[in-house]
Amino acid sequence: MNYIVDSSIVNTLLRLHKAASSQGFVLLKGLSRGIFRKLQPEDMKDAYISISQSQGEFLYDLLLDKQAKNIVEFGTSFGVSTIYLGAAAKKTGGKVITSELLPEKCAVAQQNFEEAGLSEMIDLREGDALETLKDVPDGIDFLLLDGWNDLYLPLFQILEPKFKKGTLIYTDNASFRSAQPFMEYLRANPQKYRSQRLHDEKGGSELTEYVA
Ligand SMILES: C[S@@+](CC[C@H](N)C(=O)[O-])C[C@H]1O[C@@H](n2cnc3c(N)ncnc32)[C@H](O)[C@@H]1O
Repeated sequence: MNYIVDSSIVNTLLRLHKAASSQGFVLLKGLSRGIFRKLQPEDMKDAYISISQSQGEFLYDLLLDKQAKNIVEFGTSFGVSTIYLGAAAKKTGGKVITSELLPEKCAVAQQNFEEAGLSEMIDLREGDALETLKDVPDGIDFLLLDGWNDLYLPLFQILEPKFKKGTLIYTDNASFRSAQPFMEYLRANPQKYRSQRLHDEKGGSELTEYVA
């Protein structure tokens, strides 16, 4: 198991996980806006809705094992997951391209990357990922899907031509209803994708390998 030991990164992550864990009211307030209509990213503009520490540690270890360099993320929020990916990229000599729709979240994420000493490794693209991730370089080593779940499939289909044998895709919230068109696409293409559910609690996560 590989562990993050850089104190700037460790301290930034500790601060962010602590802040995320005390957001009960912010989360409820955001989610309540989705009771009578479809929830929008703007409804969650103050919410981290970030991956957990154990998910982050798993991803860091996986990326180092794989020596992943070309790393892409959909859904930055305040940058918790991106910091784990950036910490791995710092070790492998790679880069992370990440995308966030909301400018306010981008501004805070950028500050967090600076605090962690990872700005050089992270290219944060503000705007709709369906546009901003169109021109990521070919040969993606690792893709993290953690943005709006109903965009998983269209975004994935934009990025698919940039996969290579062995590309790994980690999908957060894989058991949410809005992620199912994407999950069904994976299941319908077993000759291209080998996939397994890692966790079923808290929305579930799935790890997929492009094997074609
Ligand atoms: C679950 S959060 C990401 C959490 C982050 N990965 C972490 O672990 O810290 C999902 C984010 O996706 C963003 N988002 C939603 N639609 C988007 C789009 N079309 N393009 C880029 N980002 C989007 C939301 O604003 C939100 O901040």
